Amino acid sequence: MLPPRTDFPKGFVFGAATSAYQIEGTTGAGLSHWDTFAATPGTIMDNSNGSRACDHLNLWRQDLDLIRDAGFGAYRFSTSWARVMPDGETVNPDGLDFYDRLVDGMLERGLAPYLTYHHWDLPAALSAKGGWQNRDVAQHFADLCSVINARIGDRVASAATLNEPWCIAWLSHFIGAHAPGLRDIHAASRAMHHVLLAHGTAMQALRAEGASNLGIVLNFETSHPADDSPAAAMAAATQDAIYNQWFIRALMGQGYPDAALEGIGPHLPRGWQDDMALIAQPLDWLGVNYYTRRFYTGNDGLWPHVTELPGPLPKTQMDWEIRPEGLTEFLTRLKRDHTGGLPIYVTENGMASEVPTDDQQRIRFIGDHLRATKAAMDQGVDVRGFFYWSLLDNYEWGWGYGPRFGLVHVDYDTMERTPKASWHAFRAMLT
Ligand code: NOJ
Repeated sequence: MLPPRTDFPKGFVFGAATSAYQIEGTTGAGLSHWDTFAATPGTIMDNSNGSRACDHLNLWRQDLDLIRDAGFGAYRFSTSWARVMPDGETVNPDGLDFYDRLVDGMLERGLAPYLTYHHWDLPAALSAKGGWQNRDVAQHFADLCSVINARIGDRVASAATLNEPWCIAWLSHFIGAHAPGLRDIHAASRAMHHVLLAHGTAMQALRAEGASNLGIVLNFETSHPADDSPAAAMAAATQDAIYNQWFIRALMGQGYPDAALEGIGPHLPRGWQDDMALIAQPLDWLGVNYYTRRFYTGNDGLWPHVTELPGPLPKTQMDWEIRPEGLTEFLTRLKRDHTGGLPIYVTENGMASEVPTDDQQRIRFIGDHLRATKAAMDQGVDVRGFFYWSLLDNYEWGWGYGPRFGLVHVDYDTMERTPKASWHAFRAMLT
């Protein structure tokens, strides 16, 4: 069961979330590094890409209707860098027109637009110049934000610079699971810094242009030792520093964590310390994406000596353990250790499930995570909203189209949308 709407304050925002590459289809967009990555054999489980995705480019009106009809008041969406600037530098007016219509479509339906400027589709032309390893990416990103802000900034309720910088930097350049698929500590370390530099540079530009209600979306996973060994304790702590502390500490002016600097520091660009003030631009809010927890033990290989092991709890279709109390833990921990009184939004939470439409487990999952959010609020955390990931079944990156996160089922042959039981549960709660 979902909790009653009245459990949350009147102004609390309930929304659904998506991202451009995962739903739009790439017609009219420039080549992105996700297109080239997905074309490389062995990278994507079902060898698929985002070329058609959910055909949201054509079906966006239906999709906005589905958000409104579920009773949501907000829609978290992203703009595609490769659509707005196909070569990374030249503006594509048709791309901007699409987002202009989309934002107007939200407003016509009473939906508050929650924009994310970048959710991973870096133009291949910029990737060819080193992408996130190249310091120039920061100015390119700020230029992208300025162009988009000039067109739709007057109508968005809120804007995040980046979605999940850990995935942009570490998952993509060290673990190699996302574009550009590198496994290189040097590349990863540079990306870990440049992604934050890009955020800071864009924040400064957007503020100068008068934009307001600006934030960033980070992902968090509680990280636990898999056994009683000192090596496991060390592995969990190192993982926590790289994943859960690197970004938030830098953003809050607390500096990079020592346990991560140990391995990353030697590879950072020269003079990185001089960028830390720019990175720590004041935020209006923080977005928190939360899905699961992980267990780690040590290994004798190269730093960071971290090996993941499975945990005992029931899992989703992604094999991710379901643990709602981790969300309460993070929200309270963030306030205590980093963000103080800064407003927080749960910008993503959700589960993948193969069940086509009678998704009772998802309803339980959402209910439990909403209660976990409420528990943090009862402990004094200023949480302002909750966005379910995702409105639609969509392209789950390296996993392809297998995992289904949607409140709405998508038939990828016909593109037919069918609301699941979880969509109806939100509707019952919110309307
Ligand atoms: C995080 C990402 O922002 C989103 O793109 C992804 O689909 C979900 N989590 C689920 O993995």
